[in-house]
Amino acid sequence: TYVVTDNCIRCKYMDCVEVCPVDCFYEGENMLVINPNECIDCGVCEPECPAEAILPDTENGLEKWLELNRTYSESWPNITQKGDVPADADAMKDVQGKFEQFFS
Ligand code: SF4
Ligand code: F3S
Repeated sequence: TYVVTDNCIRCKYMDCVEVCPVDCFYEGENMLVINPNECIDCGVCEPECPAEAILPDTENGLEKWLELNRTYSESWPNITQKGDVPADADAMKDVQGKFEQFFS
C-alpha cells in the first residue's frame, strides 16, 4: 500500500484524490490518509503530490504512518474531488515537525 505522511499536514493539495482509481483517500481537518485495505498499489498518486507526501509503505520507518492511515481512514469521510487548498499551503510545505505541531 501507499501511505500519506507528514508532508501533507496543512498542505492538503488534494491532487492525489483526483487520480486514485479506487477512491481510497479519506479527509481529516489538516491532512488526508489512504485506506490500506482499499489501495491497490498502483502508485499513480505518488508523483501527483506537490508536497511529496505519499510514499510506498515498503520504505523504512513508515510503520507509524501506516498505522495512522489505517486508523483514520476508518473514521474520516471519503474524498474523491479536490476542494479548496489551504491558503497557506505553499508556506507550510517545507515546515518541519508538522505532526507534533498540527496533527489533530
Ligand atoms: Fe490510490 Fe493507487 Fe495511490 Fe493507492 S497507490 S492510493 S490505489 S492512487
Ligand atoms: Fe496531501 Fe499531497 Fe494529497 S499534500 S492531500 S497527499 S496531493
